[in-house]
Amino acid sequence: MVAYNYIFAFLLLALFITIGEGKNVLFMPVDDLRPEMLEAYDQKYIHTPNLDRLAKESFVFQRAYCQHAVCIPSRNSFMTGRRPDTTHVWIGFGNANFRVTGPDWISLPEHFKKNGYTTLGGGKTFHPNSPPNWDEPKSWSQDQPYFPFSLAKCPNTTTAHKLGAYVADIDTWCPLDEKEYPDSYHYDWQLANHTIHTLKYLKDKGGPWFVAPEPIPIEIQQSIRHAYYASVSWVDSQIGRVLQALDDMSLADDTLVVLFGDHGFQLGEHDSWAKMTNWELAVRVPLIIRAPWKPASAGKRSHAFVELVDLYRTISELVGAPSPGDDIEGVSFASLFDSPDLNAHEAALALNKTPAAYSQYTRCLKSIDAPKQWDNNSCSETSKNKFMGYSVRVPNWRYTAWMEWDDSRLKAKWESEPYAVELYDHHKSDGADGTENDFNQCEIENVADKNPEVVKELQNQLKSFFN
Ligand SMILES: *[C@@H]1O[C@H](CO)[C@@H](O)[C@H](O)[C@H]1NC(C)=O
Ligand SMILES: *[C@@H]1O[C@H](CO)[C@@H](O)[C@H](O)[C@H]1NC(C)=O
Ligand SMILES: *[C@@H]1O[C@H](CO)[C@@H](O)[C@H](O)[C@H]1NC(C)=O
Repeated sequence: MVAYNYIFAFLLLALFITIGEGKNVLFMPVDDLRPEMLEAYDQKYIHTPNLDRLAKESFVFQRAYCQHAVCIPSRNSFMTGRRPDTTHVWIGFGNANFRVTGPDWISLPEHFKKNGYTTLGGGKTFHPNSPPNWDEPKSWSQDQPYFPFSLAKCPNTTTAHKLGAYVADIDTWCPLDEKEYPDSYHYDWQLANHTIHTLKYLKDKGGPWFVAPEPIPIEIQQSIRHAYYASVSWVDSQIGRVLQALDDMSLADDTLVVLFGDHGFQLGEHDSWAKMTNWELAVRVPLIIRAPWKPASAGKRSHAFVELVDLYRTISELVGAPSPGDDIEGVSFASLFDSPDLNAHEAALALNKTPAAYSQYTRCLKSIDAPKQWDNNSCSETSKNKFMGYSVRVPNWRYTAWMEWDDSRLKAKWESEPYAVELYDHHKSDGADGTENDFNQCEIENVADKNPEVVKELQNQLKSFFN
């Protein structure tokens, strides 16, 4: 058996502690996790017994979306309750972290800390160095140092380098023999261990808490998928250890468990790997929330459109913490836990919004008339010809408009026509025919030319939302 020390940063175990009557929060963003597991999302080919159990006891969101499909902007967004156009943290241009834009903003863990909670973190809550030093001391209580994220280096062996030519960062992605490298060799194990110790500490201390801890030729493609799925099972086992500790310490009944992916992931679909696109595969995330004091929600699935930027308000409301300031974006969807059966339209009405989720992604073209504009257009490679792709998912459609970017105003040129548009038909995946979690059928064909009136309507919707 080979264990994979792969792409996952796993648990962003965020524990908020509150003193007194309060509920606790165990906040777990998992790096690169797709909504792909049995109980919550219907796929039968990955072994995830712990996530399955959690899903049975939780409210599972089928239509949850990140705001920017790569770690730094996504995490800066959900950790501050603000969209990328507000944080000015995009990939490749803008600022490296939200503190440059909002030095005094109150981050999600900081909000709990300011309200009497002990907030301890470890792993990838924020991305390393974005903000610097995990936003210590602002975001975290000083009882214990932040447990920093680190990746073990791959040993220099032949097996370790087998995927070398296809995997960007061979130093941290490799198969390992589990006899030689026991569980405790892996960072995820260490973080789970640390988290369990932290839970003990917090339980003894008393009071409410917030804890945030955190895995190309056809044969190689299969190896990578295999490795990815093995990583999901590995992360599942580490999450299982933390959840078991909550049970063993009788903390589960008073602890909100929030498990989600920081963005989605392509495993070769659309000839694309990893995230960094505006497609459903990259922006849709798993979101599983267990609130034992909201029994109506247990084991239910929601088709409400929710966004990671909503978590700040939603978590605050679900645990009875003071509501955040007006400058926090997003909408609390806590009320859905009492009416879990609302469909997407009814849920949006109940939340006083439209059923929609918004994401965005940057592109920089080397040359405006390059023959293959999709080649090498990452903004980290070139800073010329900048575009922002704004994307909206509504019931039955995804629409993306690539808008020219004005660097001097840090804003898209909404007064101009989009440079290019994409429209994808989701009638099938949003239907009740059980295909909503089919990873291969969505977004194969751009149907913008065939549906000009839908394009027009959704362009207006994007513009009025973002402009
Ligand atoms: C790894 O092994 C190869 C082949 O033996 C060798 O050329 C290389 O220098 C080694 N790299 C490190 C970092 O030790
Ligand atoms: C588990 O975590 C505790 C607390 O951080 C630490 O003291 C201990 O050394 C860890 N165990 C291992 C095997 O790393
Ligand atoms: C993209 O970059 C790769 C590696 O730098 C290079 O081999 C390739 O020719 C580039 N493609 C284009 C269209 O510039």
